[in-house]
Amino acid sequence: MHALVLLTAVTALARMTVSDRYHPDEIRREPISRMAPPPERDPSYWINEAEAGIRERLRRRDNRNVARNIVMFLGDGMSVPTLAAARTLLGQRQGRRGEEAKLAFETFPTTGFSKTYCLNAQVADSACTATAYLCGVKANSGTVGVTGDVPRYDCDDSADPANHVDSIAVWALEDGRDAGVVTTTRVTHASPAGVYAHVANRHWESDEKVRDDRGDPRRCPDIAHQLVHRSPGNRLKVILGGGRKEFLPIDEYDEEGFPGARGDNRNLIKEWQANKQSEGVSHAYVWNKQQLMNFSSSPPKYLLGLFKNSHMHFHLEANQTTEPTLAEMTEIAIKSLSRNKQGFFLFVEGGRIDHAHHDNYVHLALDETIELSKAVEVAKKLLSEEDSLIVVTADHAHVMTFNGYMERGGDILGVSDDKDKDGIPYMTLSYSNGRGARRQLNGVRVNSETHGGDDVGVFARGPHHDMFSGVYEQSQLPHLMAYAGCIGPGLHACGNGCDKKRP
Ligand SMILES: *[C@@H]1O[C@H](CO)[C@@H](O)[C@H](O)[C@H]1NC(C)=O
Ligand SMILES: *[C@@H]1O[C@H](CO)[C@@H](O)[C@H](O)[C@H]1NC(C)=O
Ligand SMILES: [Zn+2]
Repeated sequence: MHALVLLTAVTALARMTVSDRYHPDEIRREPISRMAPPPERDPSYWINEAEAGIRERLRRRDNRNVARNIVMFLGDGMSVPTLAAARTLLGQRQGRRGEEAKLAFETFPTTGFSKTYCLNAQVADSACTATAYLCGVKANSGTVGVTGDVPRYDCDDSADPANHVDSIAVWALEDGRDAGVVTTTRVTHASPAGVYAHVANRHWESDEKVRDDRGDPRRCPDIAHQLVHRSPGNRLKVILGGGRKEFLPIDEYDEEGFPGARGDNRNLIKEWQANKQSEGVSHAYVWNKQQLMNFSSSPPKYLLGLFKNSHMHFHLEANQTTEPTLAEMTEIAIKSLSRNKQGFFLFVEGGRIDHAHHDNYVHLALDETIELSKAVEVAKKLLSEEDSLIVVTADHAHVMTFNGYMERGGDILGVSDDKDKDGIPYMTLSYSNGRGARRQLNGVRVNSETHGGDDVGVFARGPHHDMFSGVYEQSQLPHLMAYAGCIGPGLHACGNGCDKKRP
C-alpha cells in the first residue's frame, strides 16, 4: 500500500516534470491580451458554429453531373502549414485576429491528401509532380511528360514517342473541349510544361539549355518550341504568364529591353503569330496588362500573353499598372474558354509560392498564396457548381514550420512570444533549412531551402467532388478529374451511375 502510494507520487512528479519541460507555462502577458472576445468565450458561439457546419454538410446534395469544365489550381510548394499561415495573414489584413479566416477553397465540400513522392525521389520536384497530377503517372525527378523509363537528361529516351504520356489537356482537346494555361512563372516552367511538353530535363526551356546537356534540340525540342509548334501546345487557346526570353534569340530584346535566351536565332512569338495567321484564326500576342484587359470583354480565339522576360514579379513587388494579377489572368482565361459549349480544361498555377519559400521570404510566400485564393474566388463566381469541377492542390510541400507559442491574433509574420533557454526569441514562421535557418558556415551563407516530403491538401468543388477525399497517390488526380468530366482513356462517370471504360 505504502509502496503503491509512493510509486503513484513519483510517477505523477515525473509526469509533471516532463510536461513542464515539453509544455512550458504560458508566457506571462497582461491578462487582458489573453482573453478572447466575449462571443467566443460563450460556449454557444462554438456550438452554433458546429451546428452551422452540420447544416452545411446536410445541405450538400450528391453531385453526379458530368463536369463540362475542369479548372485545376496548383499552388507550387503550397504546404499545409503555408495554408494555415496564409489564412491567418488574410484574416489579419482584414483587421481580425486571423486564425478563424478561410481561404477561398477552404469552403469546398471535399478535401483529401495527395502523396507527392516521385519514382526515384522521396521528396519531389515540380517536374515529376506535374507529370503525376497532369498526366497521371509517377516519373523520375526533373522529367516532364515522360514515363519512368526516361532517366533525367536522356535526350534519346525522351524523344521516343513510346515514352510520352498525355496530359488531361490532351484528353479534353480530344473530346472537342478547349484547354489553356495560366501561371505566374515562365509559361515554360516545370508545372505548366506538364500540360503540353515531353522532356527529360525541366531546364530545357530553350534550345540553349538542351545543348548545355549535350542534347540535340532538333531531336529533343525545347519546351518553348514544343509549346508553339507541337500538339497540344499549339492547340491551347489561352497561354498567360511570364518567360519571353525562352521565345526570343539571344541578340534580340523584348518590349521592356531584356534579351532573349535562344541560340537558334528563332523568334517563337512571331512564329506563333504566323502559325495562327496561316490557320486563319483570330489571335493576339500581348505583353502588358493594358493590352490584356483590352481583350477582357472579347478575347481572340487564341491568346498568348507573356508579361515578363522571366517569371512574373511577386505580386507585392509587381508594377500593378503593367503586370496583371493571377486573378485577372484567370478571369480572362475562363471567359475565353467558356465560349466552347463542350467545355474546357484550364490549369492555373500560383507558381511563386515556391520561389518565396526557397528564399525564406515568408511574407511573399503567404501573399502569393492569398493571390491564388483570389484567383480561385474568381473561378467560383464565374463557374457553376452544377457543371464545373474546381480542384485546388499543391505539387509538394516546403520546410516552413509554424512555431509556438504566439498568443491568439498575434502577428503571424512576427516573433513568437516564447523564448528558448538562451533567451533568444524566434519567428513564428521559420524554416528548417535555407538562408534564414542557420548560422553561416565558414563565412558562407546556407541559402538553399528545400521542398518537404509531407503530403499536400486537395480541395474539390463541383461534379463528383467526393472522389477527391482520402489519402492517395498524386498521380490519381487527373484520372479523378477525367472520371468526373468523362474524358480520357480511363474510367468515366458519364452521368448517373453508368461508369464505363471508353472504347
Ligand atoms: C485595344 O483594342 C483596340 C481594338 O482591338 C485597339 O485598336 C487598341 O490599340 C487596343 N489598345 C491597347 C492599349 O492595346
Ligand atoms: C509602372 O510602369 C509604368 C509604365 O512603364 C510607369 O510609368 C510607372 O512609373 C511604373 N510604376 C512604378 C511604381 O514603378
Ligand atoms: Zn521549388
